[in-house]
Amino acid sequence: MYYLWNLSDRVNRNQNNMDINGRNFTKFQERLQKYEKQNSKEAAEKQHSKGKLLAYERILILFDKGTFEEIDAFVTPAAIDKGFGRMTHTYGDGVIIGHGKISGRLAFAYAQDFNVMGGSLGAVHAAKIIKIQNMALKMGAPIIGIIDSGGARIQEGVASLAGYAGIFYRNVQSSGVIPQISVIMGPAAGGAVYSPSITDFVFMTNKTSHMFVTGPNVVKEVLNQEVSFEDLGGAEVHARKSGVANMIYEDEENTLLGVRKLLSYLPSNNLENSPYVCISEPQKEIEERLREIVPDDANKPYDVKDVINYIFDKGSFYEISELFAQNIVIGFGRLDGKTIGIIANQPKVLAGTLDINSSMKAARFVRFCDSFNIPLLALEDVPGFLPGVDQEHSGIIRHGAKLLYAFADATVPRITIILRKSYGGAYCVMNSKNLGGDFNFAWPTAEIAVMGPEGAVAILYRKELSESEDPAKLKKELAAKYRNEIANPYIADEKGFIDEVIDPSITRKKLISAFEALENKHVVSPSRKHGNIPL
Ligand code: HXC
Repeated sequence: MYYLWNLSDRVNRNQNNMDINGRNFTKFQERLQKYEKQNSKEAAEKQHSKGKLLAYERILILFDKGTFEEIDAFVTPAAIDKGFGRMTHTYGDGVIIGHGKISGRLAFAYAQDFNVMGGSLGAVHAAKIIKIQNMALKMGAPIIGIIDSGGARIQEGVASLAGYAGIFYRNVQSSGVIPQISVIMGPAAGGAVYSPSITDFVFMTNKTSHMFVTGPNVVKEVLNQEVSFEDLGGAEVHARKSGVANMIYEDEENTLLGVRKLLSYLPSNNLENSPYVCISEPQKEIEERLREIVPDDANKPYDVKDVINYIFDKGSFYEISELFAQNIVIGFGRLDGKTIGIIANQPKVLAGTLDINSSMKAARFVRFCDSFNIPLLALEDVPGFLPGVDQEHSGIIRHGAKLLYAFADATVPRITIILRKSYGGAYCVMNSKNLGGDFNFAWPTAEIAVMGPEGAVAILYRKELSESEDPAKLKKELAAKYRNEIANPYIADEKGFIDEVIDPSITRKKLISAFEALENKHVVSPSRKHGNIPL
């Protein structure tokens, strides 16, 4: 981690010279000096001792060198009429806002300063964030919020709550128009959690960031439960269990570099396309390996990430929400330099079944890609929805429908490749042609049917099996026959439900030309205010 405590180079200010071009700028310079002093050595040490950076240090890592321009540095906190507790009167009111370039493209950001009243959000602090949100939306550029905050500023009462509501409102107005990214780099308590959860991606730094609606003290008071900050709302918890955090990194510098990387896949707004990045290399020998990747034994797992890496431009796969609902893999990759959103069932985890969490994870990703003109590729190997009381009672019907809805509603180019299993509802859900998928291809290893062989023969031959002297042997024989005659890609191919059964080794080539053919896809949807996704 690099510390940049000496921040005087952040603005082009000549502090020693009170006379500029013969004019007396004393007052101007004094204000600058006072502002600079807010980032005292002690303030820096306080943050650094916790493994955290100062707000401005974070901004300097996020933006291209020398491009960040701060605005509203000299606003002061609101006066409080019936305030309670101490207020610190600092310039800036505990948040830096401004604009600059990230990999040469315009971006807006705000960064909360924990050293000013715990980064808490008062009226002026909120007004600054809203100002930069408005600018980002107007200019059609991404906004990144760096959050290090104790939530609503208690001293300012309802004005802080109103400030949060104003931020949430802008988050919602900007949703699907500009990419919004939240980076949690300290506490995000109370109101501080809801803006991130509306934004498109949440980054957290391991061990030093925590998100919770109410902290461990309140949990103890209200529920008499003892829980640590880490166990209640640490980065690991949100990345693995709640799914709130999409990306976690070990330190702040790498977290911010991760944000830069993510942005390299995204357009600046919903009217643009993603930037073209020419890093593709011929992968001939790797493509051959695709023929071997699906095991002969239909119940043997393999890693779908290998398939992704073999198909996409070398090293271009950037996985999102890697630790959450690992039975589905989502992320961005580049095909011949162009960004594609990937949704792939993972046979290595829960046999690739669709459950509540994986459906929600993939559905939100499909919605994001569709909002920002990012074409979609589904890699399918899914035996069906995960059965069981727990899933049914927790609403797999409603949550599974989210993925169905998201695919059906997406108007970007959409392609599916069936690698192996494509059974039942999962066949429909994973971007099938009748759901509006533009091209559906299948490998010769594909198994497309209403249900898997064992389940099918148990229903179709119940009588024969119950009367058989050796039901296990009979079931095995019937299942093998079913697999051979029914559960293959050729019936679907002959009926036109898939466009082509392809040799796995030409998958990349096939996809490049298919996505090229879909480049000018134009869909006119029925006129309506908005659909009603099963939330
Ligand atoms: C005003 C606050 C503050 C707050 C922290 N501070 N939170 N000031 N309003 N919400 C101040 C502290 O008084 C202290 O000031 C300084 O920030 C640092 O705080 P510490 O507690 O010393 O730091 P630390 O031990 O690191 O703990 C950080 C913390 C803790 C976990 C964030 O401060 C905390 O639990 N704060 C309250 C969190 C919370 O419940 N927020 C919810 C607010 S209600 P001094 O002067 O001593 O340095 C809310 C509802 C909005 O947000 C709903 C919208 C939907």
